Amino acid sequence: MRSKLLMANWKMNGSLMSIHDLLAECLGKSAEFNKAGIAIFPPNIYIPTVSEQLRNTPWSWGGQNVSEYENGAYTGEISAEMLKDYNCRYALVGHSERRQLYQETNEMVVKKFQRIDATGLIPVLCVGETLKERQHDQTEQVVTQQLESVINPLGISVFEHAVIAYEPIWAIGTGITPTPEEVAAVHGLIRRIIMFYSKNIGEKIAILYGGSVKAVNAKELLNLTEVDGGLVGGASLNASEFVEIMRCIN
Ligand code: PGA
Repeated sequence: MRSKLLMANWKMNGSLMSIHDLLAECLGKSAEFNKAGIAIFPPNIYIPTVSEQLRNTPWSWGGQNVSEYENGAYTGEISAEMLKDYNCRYALVGHSERRQLYQETNEMVVKKFQRIDATGLIPVLCVGETLKERQHDQTEQVVTQQLESVINPLGISVFEHAVIAYEPIWAIGTGITPTPEEVAAVHGLIRRIIMFYSKNIGEKIAILYGGSVKAVNAKELLNLTEVDGGLVGGASLNASEFVEIMRCIN
């Protein structure tokens, strides 16, 4: 059986003091909930502090974004190697906020995915459709394209150590979620696509759901057989809420 994963994407939130307190509270309240692997994605500048605080815990951490380049004159960017220096386990790639606000194309996503993989970090590839695409019945097509744009150039073997997060864009930060049936359908599609290329990888890859996951809906969304856990934004900034989500997965 695939083990569950719960990821906290803090986005550009928090301060040195508040993230320390948030993490301490989460760790303190969650001791008995150990069913899901937990990973925290702080803003890059706080990764050293978070890695220090999580050092002797089973929790992991990762970067929200990496440069598609190995190093060089790319002002403001952070490389996968730099994340590795701080023992990051994961890096998000293709998050819809990166795709939409920073015009990241599928081609850039491929390059970033490759850098993350080559560095020995685990890419967490985010895919998902806009509201308009869903209304036009294009969900399947969009998600397939997002996946195949990585599989085709890099080969299926890069998914051996990868995680996929299905995040319908219209559900992110809006409080609106798809129904459990809609989530199950897209997760089923994603697994079928991966299995088409490799049965073995398709059977074991973790496929997470993300988009307005909260304590009130975590049970019905994250415990579906098709869902291997969640990628949580807003609700991960509140310790009680996040711990409650952890409890739901247990
Ligand atoms: P949300 O964000 O939980 O605030 O909707 C999820 C995400 O962007 O990963």
